[in-house]
Amino acid sequence: MATKWALFIALIQLTVLLCVNAVRDFDRRNDLRAVPPVSESGWSVPLVGNVSCDPSSGSLSRPGVNKTLQVIAIGRGNFNYSCGGDHAPANAPTFVEQYTQLYDAAALVAALPNENSFHAIIPDFLDFDYEMLANSSLECMGSIGTLDNLAVITLFDIDTFMVSPYEWVYPPSNPDFDGLWSHSVSEGFEWEVYRVEMAGGYIPRTCADQNATIFSEYVSEYWFYR
Ligand SMILES: *[C@@H]1O[C@H](CO)[C@@H](O)[C@H](O)[C@H]1NC(C)=O
Ligand SMILES: *[C@@H]1O[C@H](CO)[C@@H](O)[C@H](O)[C@H]1NC(C)=O
Ligand SMILES: *[C@@H]1O[C@H](CO)[C@@H](O)[C@H](O)[C@H]1NC(C)=O
Ligand SMILES: *[C@@H]1O[C@H](CO)[C@@H](O)[C@H](O)[C@H]1NC(C)=O
Ligand SMILES: *[C@@H]1O[C@H](CO)[C@@H](O)[C@H](O)[C@H]1NC(C)=O
Repeated sequence: MATKWALFIALIQLTVLLCVNAVRDFDRRNDLRAVPPVSESGWSVPLVGNVSCDPSSGSLSRPGVNKTLQVIAIGRGNFNYSCGGDHAPANAPTFVEQYTQLYDAAALVAALPNENSFHAIIPDFLDFDYEMLANSSLECMGSIGTLDNLAVITLFDIDTFMVSPYEWVYPPSNPDFDGLWSHSVSEGFEWEVYRVEMAGGYIPRTCADQNATIFSEYVSEYWFYR
């Protein structure tokens, strides 16, 4: 337990450091005070993936009735999976870790004409390398790391919590390039976190013809409800 918390603290310190570094030339927080909260946008998280893959639903479930949209972020990150060791080719790759930086989308949400125009620009962020995104005027407002196979989410000035996967769907298009859409929850369903509109992040279903390490980069929308 002690080791787990030491790691947890180290991870938080690391993510704060990386983000502080990323925004060192931009102090955006004053500007962002004038931006209306995303809860006033009237937008709601897209839930429907590829229906033909899973006719029983093909859709993530909506957040609890009493939940309020707290944050919409653009996530830029990567997944590491392993096909090493004694992996049989028919087996699925094993999750190793993810690392994602979260950029506050509130200013974009306020500036864009509608929700679809926001979804449409997400894939463009995949073409930016990290340095360009870090130098952009988007504020890095948190991160996602991995501890004991769970995602540790830090939203600066808001909360730090762990989530586990609750459900997922195949993306509505590009299933051989885009990763799964997911709905994760913290203990007691306090936080409900949706990773949707994935661009990149595909993980092969089996280890056949794969390298020992699979590294997959992605950009997506993250919607946080509490
Ligand atoms: C939602 O909030 C209301 C008022 O606080 C409460 O009465 C109700 O039980 C809540 N519903 C759920 C599903 O949590
Ligand atoms: C994840 O992949 C990146 C890029 O290949 C590598 O630098 C990093 O060490 C990997 N992490 C783990 C835990 O394997
Ligand atoms: C980002 O900023 C750093 C430090 O100011 C600079 O060295 C780097 O070239 C910039 N990168 C891009 C892609 O503009
Ligand atoms: C949805 O999944 C089905 C079954 O895997 C596939 O044939 C179809 O191409 C997918 N649709 C899209 C838009 O990718
Ligand atoms: C395996 O790694 C090599 C070297 O990094 C890379 O060129 C190749 O595309 C990888 N193979 C797969 C299936 O990802």
